[in-house]
Amino acid sequence: ELIDGANKVVIPALIDIHTHLREPGYEDKETVKTGCEAAAAGGFSAVAAMPNTNPVADNPAVVEHLKLKSKEALVKVYPIGSITQGSKGEKLSEIGTLAKTGVKALTDDGHPVMNSEIMRRAMEYASAFNLPIIDHCEDKNLSKDGVMNEGYYSTIYGLKGIPAASEEIMVSRDIVLAEMTGIHLHIAHLSTEGSFKQVMAAKKRGVNVTFEVTPHHLILTDESVGDYNPDTKVHPPLRSSRDVEVLRQALKSGEIDVLATDHAPHTYEDKLGEYDYAANGISGLETALALLFEHFIKSNDISWNDLINMYYYKPAEILNVEADGIKKGSTADLIIFNPNRSWTVEKDKFKSKGKNTPFAGQKLSGKNEVTFVEGKMVYDDRGGKNEVLY
Ligand code: DOR
Ligand code: ZN
Ligand code: ZN
Repeated sequence: ELIDGANKVVIPALIDIHTHLREPGYEDKETVKTGCEAAAAGGFSAVAAMPNTNPVADNPAVVEHLKLKSKEALVKVYPIGSITQGSKGEKLSEIGTLAKTGVKALTDDGHPVMNSEIMRRAMEYASAFNLPIIDHCEDKNLSKDGVMNEGYYSTIYGLKGIPAASEEIMVSRDIVLAEMTGIHLHIAHLSTEGSFKQVMAAKKRGVNVTFEVTPHHLILTDESVGDYNPDTKVHPPLRSSRDVEVLRQALKSGEIDVLATDHAPHTYEDKLGEYDYAANGISGLETALALLFEHFIKSNDISWNDLINMYYYKPAEILNVEADGIKKGSTADLIIFNPNRSWTVEKDKFKSKGKNTPFAGQKLSGKNEVTFVEGKMVYDDRGGKNEVLY
């Protein structure tokens, strides 16, 4: 079959370094199958699966289970192991055993309550097995009960705040420990000006630290919590316009290492009710690329090459996986993006079980239409088919 590529953009399929696939244990939120369908639709050929499942991916059995489920999945799945047992932050997992299963990194994302001693030892283990540590930086003592960014709008809206300091204290601690242990520290979903400044200073003095930023932290501010839509509730919270502006400048100047979705699907019920009690997270795989095109590529703030660096080459480098999806002679991992395809975000059309998006109803002007994974077409939206192909 010949595919008409006129006026289309052909690029490597993206690699998402931060996806919650929820299986095992939370299959009502997402499964490996549905999460990977969402990834294919969004223009990804691979996702890294976060370990905060039930049971937690803190032992080989859970990782092997994920690997088994991933065999039939539409995109590649890279398992991430949990640093601590049950992701409770108290006792280290058997990191050596876990490393042998082929996990690509270690993290306690989702339940970050590790004390400094445990983090130090985790880093020493990680270095023995040459694995990066991904940290969700949050000092829970400061963020407890908080549901949105602490600042002007939390006061106006009458909601409890999560201060920037909650993130920045842990960024600072982890940088110090990474410097001491010499490991590669990757900071998940960095969201504040203070965190960014600390990372840049650390990089300058040679610390092996990288960071990712999500599309929602580049596009939305804490002001948008004003309609109490639970789909704006996420960890870390949507930050102030000042933070967002600093991250946008960093994006433009090429200082952001990685873009990542933090795809966090939840059921309708988990998001129901008062803002205070709604689950944290945004279902991001099916909007990430189109949002980045709309807000930053269309306006020439970044180029397609910049995007590919942040959403393909750098994630591949951090996860230590191949990135040859568009090389001559290799099997294709690529997408065909139509920059002239206007569409509206309709959550009922999501392949993900998680319909929790704050972007519902938004009109966007470009869209992924075809995804190839290892030479096989896995998603076809030409003519609005929106079909996944097994
Ligand atoms: O919003 C979030 N959702 N942040 C996290 O760190 C965890 C994630 C989840 O697992 O739902
Ligand atoms: Zn997190
Ligand atoms: Zn996460």
